[in-house]
Amino acid sequence: MDLSKYCKGAHKNDIVRVTMLHTLKQLKNIKGRHVMLRVDFNVPIDKHGVTDNTRIKETLPTIKYLLRKRAKVIVMTHLGRPEGRIVDGLKLDAVAKCLEKLVEHRVHKLHNCVGKPVAAEIKKMKNGEIILLENIRFHPEEEKCEPKFTKELAELGDIFVNDAFAACHRKHSSTAGIAKYLPAYAGFLVEKEIKNLTPLLKNPKKPLTLIVGGAKVDTKIGLLKSFFGKAEYILIGGALANTFLAAEGYDVGASLYEKDKIEVARNLLLLAEKRGQKIVLPKDVIVADMATEYAKTLDLPLEDVEGKMKILDIGSETRKLFAEIIAQSKSVIWNGPMGLYEFTPFCSGTKAIAAALAKMHKKAGTYIGGGDTIDALKRCKISAKKFTFVSTGGGAMLEFLEGRKLPGIAVLM
Ligand code: 3PG
Repeated sequence: MDLSKYCKGAHKNDIVRVTMLHTLKQLKNIKGRHVMLRVDFNVPIDKHGVTDNTRIKETLPTIKYLLRKRAKVIVMTHLGRPEGRIVDGLKLDAVAKCLEKLVEHRVHKLHNCVGKPVAAEIKKMKNGEIILLENIRFHPEEEKCEPKFTKELAELGDIFVNDAFAACHRKHSSTAGIAKYLPAYAGFLVEKEIKNLTPLLKNPKKPLTLIVGGAKVDTKIGLLKSFFGKAEYILIGGALANTFLAAEGYDVGASLYEKDKIEVARNLLLLAEKRGQKIVLPKDVIVADMATEYAKTLDLPLEDVEGKMKILDIGSETRKLFAEIIAQSKSVIWNGPMGLYEFTPFCSGTKAIAAALAKMHKKAGTYIGGGDTIDALKRCKISAKKFTFVSTGGGAMLEFLEGRKLPGIAVLM
């Protein structure tokens, strides 16, 4: 397979990486076979149903392909983090309804994911039917990748197809363990994510800018380190920036930051300096006493932050600076909002980044990931079509870009 057909700038080694993947198209004789399809339908839900169906929509090519081939499709997913218990609010009824509407096909939702009644329903399936198993994380064995449970799951089907890119960084029964017992193939979404993200690992178009926001240092350390020496610029915003600012000795007032990660942030800044890596932190910020929709805000230079002030967004000068850097870049990767974008007074930073990236449409490769970032795009009413690629993965995209081996992908090689 010639990867350059899919993404310009692909490297020879990337081609090897993708060709080694067992893909759905290679799978012959699907008709009448029970396909255990792992998807990531970990989607936001309110009392009216699914509020963002992106992850479900993205798996439709795989589901429709399997239905056209007259397979018996058994869909497995998790929703939220029920920690091995049955949680009513995390049952999949709303997801089943949403899937049924999108796929325009009846979806028979079961009340469990293993056990005799489940096996009996699966045995009764006709070609071209869909069953959705109940939230797989209601069983504590799933996240432990417990062999007995994994085997029980595998015994329900003939083939395993993984289309849950967003869960591929998890070594669970339904994402990785099951492949020990069944022939395993990548679904079209997993294939698409790998094809789009792989060139960023080895030979991205330069200059490359990485924009990181969000709250937690721990989840971003690996990503930051792996881009040292590779990205021309690393821009940091969000509550994450507060920890780095505190590590630089700034007073961050009453802002949210991770006290116990200051040392980690300091070491990262030192390492960056040693490697000649440019890290750009906010130089001005939006502050308020309260994080609410009606908060009174100030746009201040960093040096003026004190006392009860909470930093809740990047300031106007920083917005300009970040936009200028984006305008000079040929590849931009963005993960994590710049502020508390859910509230109008603190969404300007995130909006400015989204707008600056949308402007680069066709001029640069723009890659976006992470649930909050995608939610922010929706709120800003900026279409995903304005970007080169919007990943369905949050943690999975980060780990993939760190160059780590994802268990859910490794079993498909
Ligand atoms: C995600 O939303 O990133 C995936 O569904 C993985 O969820 P998890 O972090 O609960 O494993």
